[in-house]
Amino acid sequence: MALFALGDLHLSFQANKPMDAFGAVWKRHEAKIEKYVNQLVRPEDTLVLTGDHSWGRRLSECQEDLAFIERLPGRKILLRGNHDMFWDVGKTERLNEAFAGRLFFLQNNFAVYQDYALVGTKGFTFEGPFYLDRRGRIVDWDETREQQAKKLVAREAERLMQSFRQAEAAGYRKFIMFLHYPPTNVLEERSVFTDMAEAHGVSVVVYSHCHGERRFGDSLRGEHRGVQYRLVSGDYLRFKPEKILE
Ligand SMILES: [Fe+2]
Ligand SMILES: [Fe+2]
Repeated sequence: MALFALGDLHLSFQANKPMDAFGAVWKRHEAKIEKYVNQLVRPEDTLVLTGDHSWGRRLSECQEDLAFIERLPGRKILLRGNHDMFWDVGKTERLNEAFAGRLFFLQNNFAVYQDYALVGTKGFTFEGPFYLDRRGRIVDWDETREQQAKKLVAREAERLMQSFRQAEAAGYRKFIMFLHYPPTNVLEERSVFTDMAEAHGVSVVVYSHCHGERRFGDSLRGEHRGVQYRLVSGDYLRFKPEKILE
């Protein structure tokens, strides 16, 4: 039994938004996802998909994308990404009822893997604009946008806290934490999300959203203050799901 993660499938079987323009790695990327997930993930495994599943704007425009995900092996757990317009945060329970036994939507709830609680939310982070000097070093940024981002970060932190509270109330003390956005912005070494991970003794923080080589280093990777950070965006992994736990 193993726990895998992969983010940013960016499927568009109905919305017809080919990703090829974003580089060779995205060429027929859905075929790569299908191939690698089938090679690596067994029916008894768990696969957490960390958001940006579908380009469809409504649920009716995502049916084929979600059916593709359903056909992948293993138990599938989905996190909200910034592009998942079909997923109204207030209607997660309704999605879980509609897809019961097929897909689990992780938001204001938690899932269980062995003796770990899988907690998560979309998260948020300040993405600029940043202003650079001639050498490409950040010297300033848009402070209005930074203030807006702080509000969104606080809201997402509260949602994540709900996930932790429910898992703790059910007796769980070991956690894997999932975010769609990176846990920090490019300026930060720590954030409310890294603080929460440390305070709860989280083993691994898994996130995605960063696309293209220039963005892969935007946040933490590897071990920091006792927590492992793993980037699992699809193009970073070349669409091979990453094993998080045996
Ligand atoms: Fe994405
Ligand atoms: Fe994203």
